[in-house]
Amino acid sequence: MVPRRLPKLAPLFLRALPFGHSISKPELQFAAFARSIPHGTDPSLSCTPGVGVYDDGMTTRTRDRSREFDIGLWGATGFTGRLVADYLVRNYLGGNTGLRLALAGRKKEKLERVANEVGAPQLPILIGDSFNADALNAIAAKAEVLISAVGPYTKYGAALVAACARNGTDYCDLTGETHFIRAMIDAHEEEAKRTGARIVHCCGYDSIPSDLGTLMVQESFMQRHGRYASEVKMAAGEMKGGMSGGSLSSVLNTVDELKENPSLRKVFGDPYALNPKGVRGPDKRDQNGVRFDKDFDMWTGPFVMASINTRVVRRSHALMGLPWGEGFRYSEVMTTGKGAAGLSRAVSVAGGIMAFMAGIAFPITRPLIEKRLPSPGEGPSKEVRDKGFFKTRLIALGDGQTVRGLVADQRDYGYGSTAVMLSEAALCLAFDDAQLPSDGGILTPATAMGMRLVERLRAAGMTFEVEG
Ligand SMILES: NC(=O)c1ccc[n+]([C@@H]2O[C@H](COP(=O)([O-])OP(=O)(O)OC[C@H]3O[C@@H](n4cnc5c(N)ncnc54)[C@H](OP(=O)(O)O)[C@@H]3O)[C@@H](O)[C@H]2O)c1
Repeated sequence: MVPRRLPKLAPLFLRALPFGHSISKPELQFAAFARSIPHGTDPSLSCTPGVGVYDDGMTTRTRDRSREFDIGLWGATGFTGRLVADYLVRNYLGGNTGLRLALAGRKKEKLERVANEVGAPQLPILIGDSFNADALNAIAAKAEVLISAVGPYTKYGAALVAACARNGTDYCDLTGETHFIRAMIDAHEEEAKRTGARIVHCCGYDSIPSDLGTLMVQESFMQRHGRYASEVKMAAGEMKGGMSGGSLSSVLNTVDELKENPSLRKVFGDPYALNPKGVRGPDKRDQNGVRFDKDFDMWTGPFVMASINTRVVRRSHALMGLPWGEGFRYSEVMTTGKGAAGLSRAVSVAGGIMAFMAGIAFPITRPLIEKRLPSPGEGPSKEVRDKGFFKTRLIALGDGQTVRGLVADQRDYGYGSTAVMLSEAALCLAFDDAQLPSDGGILTPATAMGMRLVERLRAAGMTFEVEG
């Protein structure tokens, strides 16, 4: 038997948010946070190139490449930002697309160093700070699309989303912070619809394999069976990779925010936390124990990223108008193999997550754990990234029929593969407008870019296939 590789558990634990179990109106909990976020209401700003006058509630974004840059990479100096810069330069700069790329961040010299390191010293540099709304507004007005690799997003991300919504600038990021996305929906959805800004969170390992994988198996189910599946189950399988300080910092920041504001637990515990108000379905809380799943024919434990991925998939379904039915169900687990070994790994996963979360929440153990983990700016070595990979399996079920899907990559999930997913999402927004299903709003990968992004990711070497 081929030995199964167990994922390094730490990065997964770090994304675990197993708090609380129910809430009826998450929006209410968020009103205060959302109100504190800058809104774009200055009508003079509607004269940004590419954005017309707001009237009659019509979307006014024209994607005519009239702006100075196709893509601005905000946070190019960070661990993930550098990987994105490298990918875009290596694969697209000077190519047929004629990509006009700028690096953006808060330190000129550091940005110039990144430009040199990726072999493109001529790249234009844009300077700003996450807390300087004027600078962010100026940057947003210059680009067709902004990528944000600056996190934790609840700490550093809100003003940039506000600037993009105001300027009709498309935007994609890597946040996995459910409460940040909820706040952005509450604060900027209306304006993004008005200006035509496509704001797309979760364009990395969370939540592209889940969101686009579900879309893919549903499309295939429809082609084969003439209707959509009533349930999709996702299983994170074999994976290998490492973790960056920025990801750790985002999790620790969320734990701290939860301590300060326990009402946030209700948002994390709500399976429909990102849905439009009143649009719900039958799903309950994410699996947090050990079970044998007969559809995957394997033991399963909790998957820590389920807390964000499931919410994103459910938002996609809601934004599409519930085409898969009001009773559609979606869930995520981690598969750990068959037999006694599979069971024992599932128990380790479940126990490890609980122990890790308790460890970072407890003041005595937290510094001990932090000492062993990377600082912001650091991340897995090239060697670790090169040896990384992941496999995500999906099963669509309905009326006794089944369609199986696989989303996989031969790069580490958190950084190598994530840099490809984020970059291709930005390119898709910048260059594929005519083929996209979306207009402005706070969208998801599936609703903003749909199967067009799947095609791009396949071309970039990722596996998106329907099996059997
Ligand atoms: N969803 C996924 O699959 C996934 C994967 C990877 C990462 N992520 C998320 O992506 C984020 C970045 O992670 P990372 O490891 O790349 O982080 P990192 O290495 O710590 O980089 C953080 C970046 O933020 C910038 N920054 C910090 N404070 C700023 C401010 N006030 N104004 C402007 N820029 C500021 C830093 O600039 P300086 O260089 O000037 O300090 C740096 O460019 C995290 O939230 C992480 O959770 C998600």
